[in-house]
Amino acid sequence: MQPFASQVSFSTGVIQPSGKVIERRLSDMRGMYLDTAEYDRIMREEGDRLVYQVYPVALPEEPGQVLHCTTILYPGKVGDEYHMTKGHYHQLRDRAEVYLGLAGRGYLVLQLEDGTIDKVLMEPGTAAYVPPNWAHRTCNVGDEPFIFFAAWPGDSGHDYGTIEKLGFAQLLVDRGGQPTLVPNPRYGQG
Ligand SMILES: [Fe+2]
Repeated sequence: MQPFASQVSFSTGVIQPSGKVIERRLSDMRGMYLDTAEYDRIMREEGDRLVYQVYPVALPEEPGQVLHCTTILYPGKVGDEYHMTKGHYHQLRDRAEVYLGLAGRGYLVLQLEDGTIDKVLMEPGTAAYVPPNWAHRTCNVGDEPFIFFAAWPGDSGHDYGTIEKLGFAQLLVDRGGQPTLVPNPRYGQG
């Protein structure tokens, strides 16, 4: 493989050239937001919102590579729960990841498999570290797109299924304008 570079726009989050852009809409996240009545109302009355896009640099998912991408997480809420990414563990649980905040404001929410939760505020210039074994999800707590760059080992793999099935033990919600973690009553119910 030859050395190469990609251009990352800090203001829009677009990477050029990129691999296949991933789009996640509200319909891709059915069952992930707690307020299902509000989810149904938005789908019915406002339509299927774009929640986030991922621009990956095209690289083989192989040991030794460092995969990297940008994510553009649009502002909004479902009820009092902030727009978020699906969240995942790495298939190889001991593979870590680095995030760099480029624009907007959000939280990285992390969870160990025993339900231990932590969160890290991310603003432009914040380099946030996801240590081995932590599931990770981001939430946009601002009024503008929350844009960040991520890099992780090429053989990490993605395990979305465990989060889709069990959820996160806590959810980030707006309590009087303050982003607050609250227990997820559906956690672990499968
Ligand atoms: Fe990851």
